[in-house]
Amino acid sequence: MKHIIGVVGAGTMGAGIAQVAAQAGHRVVLTDTNPDQLLRAEQQINSSLEKLVQKGKVTAENAATIQQNLSYSTQLSDHSEAHLVIEAIVENLAVKHQVFEQLEQAVSQTCILASNTSSLSIASIGACLKDASRFLGIHFFNPATLMPLVEVIPGVATSATCTAQIEGLINGWHKTVVVCKDTPGFIVNRVARPFYGEALRIYEEGIADFATIDWAMTQLGGFKMGPFTLMDYIGNDINYTVTETVFAAFYFDPRFKPSFTQKRHMEAGFLGRKTGRGFYDYAEGSALLKPSTDSVLGQEIFERILVMLINEAADAVLMQVGSPAAIDLAMTKGVNYPKGLLAWADELGASWVLERLEKLFAEYGEDRYRPNALLRRKAHEQSKFIL
Ligand code: NAI
Repeated sequence: MKHIIGVVGAGTMGAGIAQVAAQAGHRVVLTDTNPDQLLRAEQQINSSLEKLVQKGKVTAENAATIQQNLSYSTQLSDHSEAHLVIEAIVENLAVKHQVFEQLEQAVSQTCILASNTSSLSIASIGACLKDASRFLGIHFFNPATLMPLVEVIPGVATSATCTAQIEGLINGWHKTVVVCKDTPGFIVNRVARPFYGEALRIYEEGIADFATIDWAMTQLGGFKMGPFTLMDYIGNDINYTVTETVFAAFYFDPRFKPSFTQKRHMEAGFLGRKTGRGFYDYAEGSALLKPSTDSVLGQEIFERILVMLINEAADAVLMQVGSPAAIDLAMTKGVNYPKGLLAWADELGASWVLERLEKLFAEYGEDRYRPNALLRRKAHEQSKFIL
């Protein structure tokens, strides 16, 4: 069924989400307080559609219909007929509250309201609404037009019907939907933390350099990008801020402790590709760092990062953030991991993973390396995560 979809905020995410909804055949109203931003979003969507036509992925006729189905406005009142409105404005609770209070007045009583927030809780945003049972999180990944994963996050007040309706709707947008609990980082931004954090720790201890760690994770681990290449791609400012936010939100659990190395890179303006320098130098002619290709060292690095990732995935299952299948789907579709972490644990055996974590825990005596209770249970029972 085709609906009218509203998107508030025409920045990086809002423009992409509007395009995804329009390509799924809906009429879309994209609003922003900044008219220049609306113009930029319109240009961005039009040029993206043009490219899809050139590649033969969309017919010219279809692209024209999509364009006709999209409208741009500075007025929140233009969402009055919407079936669903997704907010994608600045990550600031007070500003989001202002917008949702106005939006609730503008829309019909049956309209579903959603936020694309990455780091605020759904409960805290929805608290400003008179009826929070029709409010939930719909978390797209950047770029929204390309990344297949969408996390759907019901808050404590969200009704089951609202979640089910959105799950069905977004599934029809050529996206993979996973439903997850309203906990910090949801699934992907929580479970992926050790990919960066443990890589930084290995570097900080002088065990290996950036290039060697990236080599181990790509060549031995099969990941598409190594952690340092990926952090440079995401931007050290953004990646560091996510880690710091998740760390604080988990009451400073040492598992999520941010790294001084990344902070110093951020402070120095070494943000990654976007500034021409991050962990690597992207200036033309700069020498490529050569990894050591010592396979024993490489295997040690890969296994250490992998068991930390599996431990985090096991914790997300234990705390019911998502089902084992949802967590594996999220990591393969949201961050392109070569395998689901829990299926990987099943393949290696929970006792193999546990043994490595116990070794790290015994060596360092740090809470960061404590093996998860569910992992212990699986090892003890010799059972699998994915049934
Ligand atoms: P952005 O800074 O690119 O865009 C935000 C837009 O909101 C701007 O166009 C701004 O003019 C507009 N805006 C600000 N206040 C407004 C208001 N009161 N009313 C209407 N429009 C207003 O931000 P971005 O990166 O698109 O992020 C938006 C949301 O999506 C945030 O909640 C962020 O946490 C989340 N998110 C961001 C991702 C990313 O990779 N950038 C990934 C997933 C979620």
